[in-house]
Amino acid sequence: MSTAAIDRRAFDTIAPRYDLVSGLLTLGMGDRWRRAAAEAADLSAGQSALDAYTGTGDLALMLADRVTPLGRVVGVDHSPEMIARARVKAAASHRPCRFEVADCTSMPFADDEFDAATASGGLRSLDDPARGVAELVRVVRPGGRVVILEITPPDRLRGVHGRVMRFATPLVGGALGGDRDAFRHLADTVEGVPAPADMAAIMSAAGLSDIRWRRFGGGVATLHHGVVA
Ligand SMILES: C[S@@+](CC[C@H](N)C(=O)[O-])C[C@H]1O[C@@H](n2cnc3c(N)ncnc32)[C@H](O)[C@@H]1O
Repeated sequence: MSTAAIDRRAFDTIAPRYDLVSGLLTLGMGDRWRRAAAEAADLSAGQSALDAYTGTGDLALMLADRVTPLGRVVGVDHSPEMIARARVKAAASHRPCRFEVADCTSMPFADDEFDAATASGGLRSLDDPARGVAELVRVVRPGGRVVILEITPPDRLRGVHGRVMRFATPLVGGALGGDRDAFRHLADTVEGVPAPADMAAIMSAAGLSDIRWRRFGGGVATLHHGVVA
């Protein structure tokens, strides 16, 4: 089975408990980091945005707050179960946001279609993160922003952090009634995130300029953004 198929199946399994476990493992900071990502997208009313690897849609809904009225946001994920939960949230929120099931490394959108694109927690699942970044750049117009948020191993205690994540994630997920193996997959992908300078180099090679990054909580999450040249 391909890495993408394993990931899709894991997230379909995790979906009912994703929000709860993600909130616990980020000590409630996840939404603050997503709000910073939405702000970094630098959108205004009437514009359009893509939230790739949208999961249960929280960042997409934050983007929708920034483009309403008349703007539009599309959230994309390859897990139908994650997207089903995002759609329930969107219906309850009445925000201008729709969700689609698709592979974020090959999306059904035209070149330059959006004013900005975000990706939170998804690139780390890819065998080739550069391919994922190139696809985000392709669908954003020149002058638009690409924003990438990832849980990252902190500079200090890198090895300890990895061990804690690998131990705590399946434990917490399992204790809450989830499938431990699926949550173990979620923890394992954190180690695959490129270091901040490497991510910046990938973004530059993909055609982004003015690349900046900001670290949260001593480096446990990193927010990168750049402008499509
Ligand atoms: C860790 S979750 C992050 C969800 C959400 N963005 C957040 O901030 O909580 C990663 C998501 O990426 C999705 N994903 C991973 N690889 C993908 C791919 N190639 N195409 C589409 N979605 C993918 C998974 O299904 C999962 O929902």
